[in-house]
Order: sequence, then structure tokens, then C-alpha cells
Amino acid sequence: MNDKRNFSRRNFIGMSGVASAGLAFSSSPLIAQSVVNGDSNSGKKYKIGIVGCGNRSKNIIGALNSVPEIEITALCDIVEHKMGQRAALIKNGPKPRFYTDMHQMFKQDDLDAIAVITPNYTHKEYVIAALEAGKHVFCEKPMALTVADCNLMIDAVKRTHKSLQIGTQRRHSSDYKMLVENIRTKINGKILYSDLFDYRGDWRAPEADEYPAGVGYWRLDQSKSGGVVYEMGAHIIDVNNWIFDSEPISVSSIQGINNLSLRKRNSMDHAGVLVRYANDALMNYGSNVYNYGAAAADTFFGVNGSVQMGSGQISIKYGNPKGVAQQGLVIPKPELISLPGGNPEGEGVIQELKHFALVLAGKEKAYPDGYIARQTVQICEASVRSAKERREIDVKELG
Ligand SMILES: NC(=O)c1ccc[n+]([C@@H]2O[C@H](COP(=O)([O-])OP(=O)(O)OC[C@H]3O[C@@H](n4cnc5c(N)ncnc54)[C@H](O)[C@@H]3O)[C@@H](O)[C@H]2O)c1
Repeated sequence: MNDKRNFSRRNFIGMSGVASAGLAFSSSPLIAQSVVNGDSNSGKKYKIGIVGCGNRSKNIIGALNSVPEIEITALCDIVEHKMGQRAALIKNGPKPRFYTDMHQMFKQDDLDAIAVITPNYTHKEYVIAALEAGKHVFCEKPMALTVADCNLMIDAVKRTHKSLQIGTQRRHSSDYKMLVENIRTKINGKILYSDLFDYRGDWRAPEADEYPAGVGYWRLDQSKSGGVVYEMGAHIIDVNNWIFDSEPISVSSIQGINNLSLRKRNSMDHAGVLVRYANDALMNYGSNVYNYGAAAADTFFGVNGSVQMGSGQISIKYGNPKGVAQQGLVIPKPELISLPGGNPEGEGVIQELKHFALVLAGKEKAYPDGYIARQTVQICEASVRSAKERREIDVKELG
């Protein structure tokens, strides 16, 4: 196995402190050196430019209002009026400069970092361009549409000695950290299986003036969005990778478009995905974008019991590993734990951007980085290929 694959992150429960991330995985010698020197640039305001002022940028700007270490200095969108709308959401600092050409924005010397919040199919090109322009990058999930593109992005990080953090906010949310900690400490045996699902209404219909004339809505185009597994699955699959702490090995999936009454589309609107990991654990993921349903609950099964997260609670049920009664064996009573966050996604976004501020200060490594985020893309890409070719896909086939 090469360095890109053979990567155990055991006990990597919470934030990636430099010590726990390990400098062996440093893709940014400059940052590693500044940490060694204790140069934290504390008190400095880091200047960020946002490319993509669509729907997601509202959440990112809202969260950055709670991150005083980062100032939004520039906005870029090909649809001009969106920049004004987003600028109105910024609570701190001077009015940002506007750009319709991202390359012009990337050239600005005063910018420390770029946030790429554009459609999925653009991430590879825009992230590499920003890194090549000498900027650190925060990029929304999914990292890219293919493993080959993730590899090019990782190569660009190595070449430029800049940092790339991917926006899967659950890695930074208190609720999900509590889930992982409970699985690691309470069900502390082998994890065998997970049963995960999510669904939501069909994607928000964009306003008539959101895209230039003749430009379709990218989410309805399979070649631009990747379909439902990239769009929604990327979040819980990333959590699953964190919990399983192993590498995805093979993927089987059935996907399709069932509900054309909502929107015309050629992107997959439902999927079932089965993934085998190197440690033999199995993930079972299902999703659709037909409509809102009951709150999703995700369950993780281990040899010593199961942990379920849903409806603001973690439920732990302890089991008997032998399956039959044994003299003297006391099985703990089930536990119900209230989650602290209340709003795991919103809180996670603030925390991920606070973490990015520490990356810019040289105090932390990007987390999740390209290596972690690529594992999710391995599953997404293999799932689409499996559904198309009607066979199990070995992740190695993806490069
Ligand atoms: N982490 C999360 O929970 C989460 C949630 C929603 C969306 N996302 C991700 O955020 C990204 C954006 O999603 P969205 O819902 O905001 O989409 P959107 O279509 O609402 O916004 C995308 C914006 O990018 C702009 N854009 C496209 N090409 C550009 C270019 N060359 N230069 C400048 N601007 C350009 C578009 O004009 C548009 O305003 C996607 O990758 C999506 O997967 C993440």
C-alpha cells in the first residue's frame, strides 16, 4: 500500500491536535515548522476570500461572524447581485471587495485563504488554482467527484506547501464527537456493522435570478453533482469512516431516479450502498431526496453492544458477546444520553472554521484533510460506478 492508503487514525476522536495528527502526515512543512517555532501569529486577523456566494455561503458567512480571527475581505460570484446580498450578512470588518473572476481574487496579496463554496464539479479546478496562487483553502464537501481529482488536489497541497481543509462539519460538532467517544469508550470492542440513512425534500429550488441565463441547476445534473450519495451521503459516510477507523475496500450499490414528479433531473435521487472495510466492518447506507420523513437515526453495532444516534440522543444497548447466558456475566443496563449541541450542523460549521483559523495560525493541521476526505469520495465514486456497471467495485480500481 502506498502512503495515500496506509493511514491509520486510531484514537483520533476529536480535533486534530498537531500531536495527535502526527507530523508524519504533514502536507505542509511550513506549518509544521511554524508550530515547532511556536509562531502562532496570535492576535492576527486572517483575510479570506469566498468564491461561490450561493446558498451554502449564507451558513459559512453566518458562522464566520462568530470567528473573529477570520475577516471576509473578498467575495466572488459569476452572478453579481449575490455578492451584495452576501456582503449584507457580514457583521464584522470592512465591506468586502467583489470579483466576478476568481483568478483576479486569488491574485490579491492580502488574502491568506480562499473558501471554495461552488458546485461539486468545480472543486478540483478551483482548489488547485487557489493553492497555486499561494492561498490556504477551505473547500466544501464533497472534496471532488473522483478519486483521481482528489489525488491531483493532494499533489497540489504537497507542491504548494499550503493547507487544504474539507468542509464536513460533523468532524467538529460536539454531538458527533460525543457519539464517537461513546462508541470508542463504552462499546470498546470490534465494530461490526452500521445502518445509516438520510432523506430530505428535493433540493431547494433556486430563485429565478440565481444563475446566468441558460445555466441549469447543477444539482439536477449527475455529471455536476454526483447524485444523492455525494450530496447527502458525504456527511454520514465521513462520520462512518471516522468511527470504523479503517479503509473502504469494496462497494456495492443500487441507485436510480424514482421520483420525476418533483423535478426534472438526471442525477440519482435514491441509493442503497453497502461498503466493506479493511477491518471487515460493513456499512449499510440508504438515502433519498423525495421528501422529508421521520428524523434519521444512525446505528453502529459492535461485538459488545450497539450505539444509536437520533432525535437529540445517544442510545447505548449493551449485548452479550457470546450470545448465550453465561454465569457471572453482568450486562450493563441500556443508557440514554442527551446530546449537548442541539444544532450539530450549525455548531459544527462554527467549530470547523475556528479550527481553520488555527490552521492559518500554524497551530493545527487541516482537519479533515484531503486524505480523510478522499475516503468518502472513494465510496461515493465506487457507489455510482457499481450502480451503473451492476457489480461490486474494488476501491483500488479508482486509483
Ligand atoms: N457542508 C454542508 O453541509 C453543505 C451544505 C450545502 C452545500 N454544501 C456544498 O457547498 C457547495 C455549494 O452549494 P450551494 O448549495 O451553495 O450551491 P449554489 O448553487 O446555491 O451556489 C453555488 C454558487 O457558486 C457560484 N459559482 C459557480 N461557478 C463559479 C465561478 N467560476 N466563480 C464564482 N462563482 C461561481 C454560483 O453562481 C453560485 O452562486 C457544494 O459543493 C455543496 O455540496 C455543503
